[in-house]
Amino acid sequence: MNGPIGIFDSGIGGLAVARAVKDLLPQESIVYFGDTAHLPYGDKAGATIQAHAIRICNFLLKRQCKVILIACNSVSAVAYDLVCAHVGQRAAVLNVIDPMIDYIGSQFQGQLIGLIGTQQTIHSRVYEKKIQALRLGIQLRAVATPLLVPMSEARFTQGISLETIHNYLKNPALRYIKALILGCTHYSVIKTSIKAFYQHQLSVMDAAEVTATYLQRFLFRHQLLSTRLLAEDHFVASALTADFERATHIFFGHKVHLERLLV
Ligand code: DGL
Repeated sequence: MNGPIGIFDSGIGGLAVARAVKDLLPQESIVYFGDTAHLPYGDKAGATIQAHAIRICNFLLKRQCKVILIACNSVSAVAYDLVCAHVGQRAAVLNVIDPMIDYIGSQFQGQLIGLIGTQQTIHSRVYEKKIQALRLGIQLRAVATPLLVPMSEARFTQGISLETIHNYLKNPALRYIKALILGCTHYSVIKTSIKAFYQHQLSVMDAAEVTATYLQRFLFRHQLLSTRLLAEDHFVASALTADFERATHIFFGHKVHLERLLV
């Protein structure tokens, strides 16, 4: 099956996931969509996020994607079921939460885990519900950290504020955790600073590699792996911001072609 993998996020967050997918599956073509004209998603109403997700899926379906990978926790939290129903048999739909839940279940039974993410992701309680359903004695402490999204988006053009990161991580709710889930794909680009806060003594997990591995297994199981020798990638954004351009070039090199399209 040689259709591309469609990957989307509100902005640069999903690029880390796309990079991990490319590293693991170089023969797969990627169509990446960053909805930079409408970010941030995480503070918006669920219905607004759902409407954005449906528009983007329609675009990715037009580009013949065989799989749509929602590389955004906020969309995965509030729009995954709707997107699956909308897409139906036209493509497979994956999110970034289920791969993380599988991973947590395999590594952290009986432990206390922290989660940081956007307001929508945290308030949806989707991680709690899925972790409870595992029945492995894993407890979750979740904290919304919305200011980390604009900071991560501008990471490569304006730098970051360690004070903001530290203020969030000092939240007493996160005091005794054994590992921390970065429940927003944007936070991958500030992961090093988060690890440094914990003096590299704590597992800090983002969606990138676990999702890429999950996707690889999914493609294999459903006989969807590409048989191409050469794969071409496309990067599309609803607004071509300096942040998006810089981040795309950092993740994928300077030769990539960026397209601006309001879908
Ligand atoms: N990167 C997204 C997430 O994983 C959305 C961030 C935002 O736009 O608020 O939640």
